[in-house]
Amino acid sequence: MTTSTAPAFEELLDRRARQIEERLRELLADKSRDGEITRPATLLAAMRHGVLNGGKRLRPFLVLESAALFGRDGSAALTVAAALECVHCYSLIHDDLPAMDDDDLRRGQPTVHRAFDEASAILAGDSLLTLAFDILAETSSFPSRDAGPSALRQLELVRGLARAAGVGGMAGGQALDLAAEKKTPDEAGIITLQAMKTGALIRFACEAGAIVADAGSADRERLSEFGSAIGLAFQLADDLLDITATPEIVGKATGKDAAAGKATLVALHGEDWARKQLSGLVEQAHDLLAPYGDSGGTLKSVATFIAERKH
Ligand code: IPE
Ligand code: IPE
Ligand code: MG
Ligand code: MG
Ligand code: MG
Repeated sequence: MTTSTAPAFEELLDRRARQIEERLRELLADKSRDGEITRPATLLAAMRHGVLNGGKRLRPFLVLESAALFGRDGSAALTVAAALECVHCYSLIHDDLPAMDDDDLRRGQPTVHRAFDEASAILAGDSLLTLAFDILAETSSFPSRDAGPSALRQLELVRGLARAAGVGGMAGGQALDLAAEKKTPDEAGIITLQAMKTGALIRFACEAGAIVADAGSADRERLSEFGSAIGLAFQLADDLLDITATPEIVGKATGKDAAAGKATLVALHGEDWARKQLSGLVEQAHDLLAPYGDSGGTLKSVATFIAERKH
């Protein structure tokens, strides 16, 4: 199937994670942003608990590396990456709530509603979602006219993130996921719900890097397709880990999907089928990067990493 991910790739993933965490820490500082009245200490602490608690930072990595593919490195991509990670962390905080998956452990620590309370977890999610759009819309987030995307590109990023996160994307997918506990959809229905709840943000991560880098529409489309393929692969791998991994390794409860009646492709077709499907998706993702030759190497490694990841 695919080549294994090299230690150099994992080091790069770590290095990028540290960069993004530094930016996230700044964004969640005590000091209010212009126009904010005050930042309530408990709410801010709940937000930090949900964000600065480890995590692979895969979506930020995708933003940074897809921007790098088109020759754009630096602060603007990091800003977009941080905004996206805020949305992802919000989605996890709400996903863990009793009304949703009712989980006590996330990234090896108590979930936000456990460490604080449900109201704080709901509000921390709300505030992170809002902060993401604040960051994206802030012109000073994009340090100089030359280094950052144009105002038009900024609008495209705002709209892209909104559509990936909202009723027709992640949040809609979460609704379908919960409805599917009561009435199991067919294969196409499961693929749609997974493309929404997980795929949409991952797809946007890949396209966002291309937008920041001012890539042309064909490249943006190609990166989006790459994101769709690895997004589906990512949730397949997550569903496999739910049955094969332990909480110590993944930092969250495992063995819960079947008990909760979650509609997954693993439940529908079994583990062997899922592993074959996963290889096929990685191959598809690699093929999409073929036109970029060696420059696509890091993104190819991400696809491999997603399929082979153990946590
Ligand atoms: C978990 O995402 C939620 C899913 C979409 C399956 P990650 O596995 O990327 O979680 P973190 O950010 O590394 O904790
Ligand atoms: C969560 O899927 C997807 C989102 C948070 C949008 P899961 O419910 O499978 O994620 P985990 O397993 O709790 O991380
Ligand atoms: Mg869930
Ligand atoms: Mg969950
Ligand atoms: Mg899961």
